[in-house]
Amino acid sequence: MNPTGYPELDALLPRLDAIATLDRDGLEAERIAVLGRKQGALTATMKALATLPPEERKRFGAESNRVKAAFEEAFAAREAALVTDVPTYRSTDLTMPGRGRWIGALHPVTLVLEEMVAIFRELGFAVAVGPEVETEWYNFGALNFPADHPAMDMHDTLYLTQGPGEKVLMRTHTSPVQIRVMQSGPPPYRVVVPGMVYRNDAWDASHAPAFLQLEGLAIDEGIGFIDLKATLSHFARRFFGPRTKVRLRPSYFPFTEPSAELDVECRICYGSGCPACKQTGWMELLGCGMVHPNVLTNCGIDAERYTGWAFGMGPGRTAQQRYGIPDIRLLYGGDMRFLRQLAGREGRP
Ligand code: DAH
Repeated sequence: MNPTGYPELDALLPRLDAIATLDRDGLEAERIAVLGRKQGALTATMKALATLPPEERKRFGAESNRVKAAFEEAFAAREAALVTDVPTYRSTDLTMPGRGRWIGALHPVTLVLEEMVAIFRELGFAVAVGPEVETEWYNFGALNFPADHPAMDMHDTLYLTQGPGEKVLMRTHTSPVQIRVMQSGPPPYRVVVPGMVYRNDAWDASHAPAFLQLEGLAIDEGIGFIDLKATLSHFARRFFGPRTKVRLRPSYFPFTEPSAELDVECRICYGSGCPACKQTGWMELLGCGMVHPNVLTNCGIDAERYTGWAFGMGPGRTAQQRYGIPDIRLLYGGDMRFLRQLAGREGRP
């Protein structure tokens, strides 16, 4: 704005230019400092008007109104600028399409595990967990493994200590939690035990060095093999479908006697034979058996009075069977493109 010729008014003009640099608070303060009714610098100057002679008053009045209008305009312009001047408004293209939201989902093996646990919960089983780092006694000794059992070789077991003294290792199965449960108080016990286990195994189509197991244990007075068979058959039919055929095959585990393996009719070919079941028509679901009296005795339980059964299965293997996944590395390899296909899928044949 051009000078007015009145020093009192012209003295205010530099402040006019400075308005464009003020922030929100500074702007409000400056508005009061210049135009404020009581102490505004321009208001004070204009009050002198009354004391001027009429001719002078007119000219001075016109000039001060010009200055006032210029200030009002500058304040309004700065205020408008501040509204749109917020950095995010200026640097963001609001018309740009949004980024795809990452929708998380439970891992297919976790979904299978949760479903298994839910079936056992309905049957009155509680969930127990135990440490992944175990002593040799819990992992093998208490479970009646003979001292020279091949599973104890360095080949299978990841040992964390060397030399004399009790060896510490990564548990190779969830069975040591059986021991911990039985040591925690007197029978009866009905528990399932989900957890990771570790083996010094190759990482190939059918093996992973770390995988999930679900262990089960039922100990009480008067429990027999028929309870094992009835419970596990019921489980298989709840999990795979009501008409699923099951069979028990004799097997061996140091901590059960007798021991068995439970097979279910192949969920892909329904028994007629296919590559997934190696033409047998059956798929191995779990290992099981009557808990060996030595194991009960090792936990201070009277093996004459109490009996029971146990089982162990691999939910990863079961997920493979259910979804027809040929290579276990697809499940544990962390490729989201693959896992996303299974997330939330029912997968029942
Ligand atoms: N612990 C066995 C394994 O990892 C699985 C197993 C078999 C567990 C029979 C049991 C059982 O409780 O009774 O191969």
